[in-house]
Amino acid sequence: MYESGDQAKKGTNQELEILASMTSEERDLLLGRVQPFMKLMMQYRCAIREMETKLQVLNDEFSLQHERNPFESIESRVKEPMSIIEKMRRRGWDLTVDNIEDKLNDVAGVRVICSFVEDIYYLADMLAAQDDLNVLQVKDYIKHPKDNGYRSLHLIIGIPIFLSSEKKYVRVEVQFRTIAMDFWASLDHKLKYKKNVKNPELIAAELKKCADTISSVDLRMQEIRNMMEEGEM
Ligand code: GTP
Ligand code: MG
Repeated sequence: MYESGDQAKKGTNQELEILASMTSEERDLLLGRVQPFMKLMMQYRCAIREMETKLQVLNDEFSLQHERNPFESIESRVKEPMSIIEKMRRRGWDLTVDNIEDKLNDVAGVRVICSFVEDIYYLADMLAAQDDLNVLQVKDYIKHPKDNGYRSLHLIIGIPIFLSSEKKYVRVEVQFRTIAMDFWASLDHKLKYKKNVKNPELIAAELKKCADTISSVDLRMQEIRNMMEEGEM
């Protein structure tokens, strides 16, 4: 969540006051629990940076060869602590740092927004072929969209990070989408939080129709590009 400089400063001051008012035993107990969590989150941030660099390298190379970029933009995030807690609770897992690391695949998330559907598979294949990466899971919601119409390609990838005393594999969820798929997913996400809607079934049916329209536009755009590249247009 983004916050202004002033708000952030106010929050930090409050946190420091709370820490200052604790006994040293209380402080040790808190820091003893918080530090392993902070360390794990740092590792996820490093893994995101590594993954972004790999994608940027592929983008640079591809754009030299083809005079266009396979992706439009990358958005990354480390899952918020409250979302981590909520998901661990929902799945019935004990809230320990080890469990967060072992059970959650999406603490580190990278979203790659591509121009064309074929670019998604190009980038995913190139990543999968890199010998330091482990593709642990593939969910192809483009070939097999969700019932509500959601489309994207999700990969869970193990990526090595090099710490001072160890090489460690960290999992990152990489979501590939076209601009059109991202447009639909963003609006779907916003509508999910709307309360007191009169007819949820109708909204779901309308969203599904929009998803199908968007999918056919993506296909048509791909065809136009292919025809241009083959000199037919
Ligand atoms: P989560 O508990 O949501 O992480 O589900 P999951 O572990 O079964 O993973 P899945 O691959 O199905 O979805 C993971 C992520 O994909 C979500 O956190 C969203 O970012 C995105 N996603 C999945 N389904 C939808 C959807 O119907 N609408 C939107 N807007 N995003 C979705
Ligand atoms: Mg998720």
